[in-house]
Amino acid sequence: MPLLVGLFDSGLGGLTVLRQVHALYPHSSCLYLGDTARVPYGQRTTDEIRSIAAEVVQWLRRQGVGVLVMACNTSNALALDVAVAEAGVPVVGLIDSVAAELVVDRIGVLATPATAASGAYRRAIHACRPSARVNEVGCPRFVPLIEAGDLEAPALREAAQDYLAPLLEARVEAIVLGCTHYPLLRPLLAELVPPDVQLVDPAVATAQRLGPLLASLGDLPEVEMPAEPESPPLERSHICVTGPADAFAEAATAWLGTRPTVRTVSLQSPARAF
Ligand code: DGL
Repeated sequence: MPLLVGLFDSGLGGLTVLRQVHALYPHSSCLYLGDTARVPYGQRTTDEIRSIAAEVVQWLRRQGVGVLVMACNTSNALALDVAVAEAGVPVVGLIDSVAAELVVDRIGVLATPATAASGAYRRAIHACRPSARVNEVGCPRFVPLIEAGDLEAPALREAAQDYLAPLLEARVEAIVLGCTHYPLLRPLLAELVPPDVQLVDPAVATAQRLGPLLASLGDLPEVEMPAEPESPPLERSHICVTGPADAFAEAATAWLGTRPTVRTVSLQSPARAF
């Protein structure tokens, strides 16, 4: 049985992390849970975010995941300790992974209100780079608009202009996309910031950090992978949601480049879904 990489998010956003994992480790099998019945997480209380994380991670553990990737910054910011306690397997976070890779001093972070209020990015970046000036902006309008599916919506552009204004004022050199939904906005954000401002997707550093862990767990091929894996990675992965499956499959198609098979699951079910 190949090692199963577990990932979770409130909805579509974590697919940006799944895509990075597939790109770097095309042999891997992933189990993705989008907790769409409870999206958005980012406006919830800390207690809610922590109890949801416990429930989701317990479910992933029952499915037999061998490693857990936090594909949600909000859960990572407020419930990493819960995930580590419940997972029973190694846990890889987004925030620490990207903080270690930042090489500039004026850093902006766009994140959910809960992540921004937690100060988790500021702490993680300062731990690696004490000289950095970190400006975190909570963006409550982004996730509901992204989940609604129209990435061209004028309301998204207006929201982006509002959220970017304090970062541009502070003349940031890099903007961390501190919510896994936001890489879906990269084309829009790139239009609105000067070309020398880097847009940093933490999924890249996170997926890179997964490699040594997969190798230590015996799940990396010893020979270099062929350019074309035998079957596309998605066919070896499972995508589950807690809300309607069809709507999620539809919205995920553009991002994944193919329509995924999605099934609705109950997190309370004691049985394995696979
Ligand atoms: N995509 C998640 C994150 O990275 C959660 C967004 C939300 O549900 O508010 O924070």
